[in-house]
Amino acid sequence: KPNMKLVVVSNRVATFNPDQPPTGGLAAALEPVVSRSGAVWMGSSGNLGDGNDRPVALAQCGEGHVARLDLPAAHYPGYYEGFANSMLWPAFHSLLDRVSSGAENHYESYREVNAFVGRAAFDLRDRDAFWVHDYHFLPLGADLHKLGIDRPIGFFLHTPWPAPDLIERVPNHRELMKSMLEYDLLGFQTNWDRNNFLACVHSHLGLESKNGIVISQGRQTRCQKFPIGIDPKQFAENAAVSLAEQNDFISSLQNKLNGAKLAIGVDRLDYTKGIDNRIEAFNQVVAAEPRSISLLQIAIPSRTQIAAYGEYERNVDSLVSRVNGEHGTDEWRPILYEKNSFTQAQLASLYRAAHVGVVTPLRDGMNLVAKEYVAAQDPNDPGVLVLSKFAGAAEDFKENEALLVDPTRPEEIATAISRAANMPREERIQRWRMMMDRLEAYTIHHWSADFVQELDKSRVTVPADH
Ligand code: UDP
Ligand code: G6P
Repeated sequence: KPNMKLVVVSNRVATFNPDQPPTGGLAAALEPVVSRSGAVWMGSSGNLGDGNDRPVALAQCGEGHVARLDLPAAHYPGYYEGFANSMLWPAFHSLLDRVSSGAENHYESYREVNAFVGRAAFDLRDRDAFWVHDYHFLPLGADLHKLGIDRPIGFFLHTPWPAPDLIERVPNHRELMKSMLEYDLLGFQTNWDRNNFLACVHSHLGLESKNGIVISQGRQTRCQKFPIGIDPKQFAENAAVSLAEQNDFISSLQNKLNGAKLAIGVDRLDYTKGIDNRIEAFNQVVAAEPRSISLLQIAIPSRTQIAAYGEYERNVDSLVSRVNGEHGTDEWRPILYEKNSFTQAQLASLYRAAHVGVVTPLRDGMNLVAKEYVAAQDPNDPGVLVLSKFAGAAEDFKENEALLVDPTRPEEIATAISRAANMPREERIQRWRMMMDRLEAYTIHHWSADFVQELDKSRVTVPADH
């Protein structure tokens, strides 16, 4: 395993407080990586600054450090709410009708924030390599080169990468892709994403690839799949702690169920997550079999400054009220709807209590909740995962393991939930074992070690004339 002094860059950094849940999969995944590796993790502090370069404060976290940056106030909204989350996020999830009008005007702010973070990262140029994360920072590698950094620079995309006809709708897509070809290593969640990227590079930049290698302006970029994992042992251990030892909400859950089985969904309130179709599906399940099963839907408000998110939240809220109004009784509610977040240890107990895990995004880079649900099950009496075929996790979990569904079809989701809730124990164990074996064979630690090892190879492939 190469012993590299890494700089990790992402917009969101973890809280490093076990009582405070991570926001989203990226922070959840990178926290154990940084705290074990001695990396410096640079990202947004959540506060805004005037855009002058300042030395960044380093705070210790495990063996690593976090450097929090005050991003420039003048450009932050255009960068975060604008170009990153109202243009790239919906386009990368193949949901062009969710692109906000006006988002194309924020490209300049996006570039400015990238350049700002590049200047801050320049202070760390003596470290061995840079590992940049996610769609917030597509051009950061090019910015680092402009500043004269000659270390290996890798990039990992946590979201999907779309097909050529969709990326075309992103303004400056050629410039963005060209700048991505300044990374030595580009990591994707699935083969689907990697192949789409290579197809886009071919269609829009006219560049051929061979074995995932693209050569552009004398520089070689390797494009590979690194499917992100979790720490399954951690979830299994946390899940074994009894519900009663967790917080009040969790210990009162069995009373609320009043004999019904439990299904669980855990998502940020994001239109990519397919929560609305899932509620619709659940409506059909409880209409057919009243009081047989409740859905605990944890839905954490996210990116609330963006209109599309507010609208989605209101839509989901009203669907939940409708189903509970139609089918609920004094003793039993079909949907337990929770907007407060839980720590990962608490989630592990909830996952274990649930007979069915329902993960139905319209599209998702990976979806860690799907993996966490599996890892938290009781090996002797495991629950069943109902999984969208458009989640990255469906490239790992096969048809005979999870129940794969089309997330746009509520009736298909409903059938799968009923089948999962009534599946014989033997079949559940068989399906679960195959998924758990996969999770153990490629954990979050394999993922990061693999990426870093591949990045390390670039030390010898950087052209001498660069
Ligand atoms: N999560 C959490 N507490 C909550 C809700 C979510 O810790 O109350 C974590 C969850 O355990 C998972 C991550 O947030 O690790 C969500 O990642 P996922 O890949 O499923 O979706 P994303 O939010 O990144 O799109
Ligand atoms: C997804 C993205 C991450 C992001 C997370 C939470 O997982 O891939 O980059 O951090 O969602 O979103 P937020 O906008 O709150 O950071």
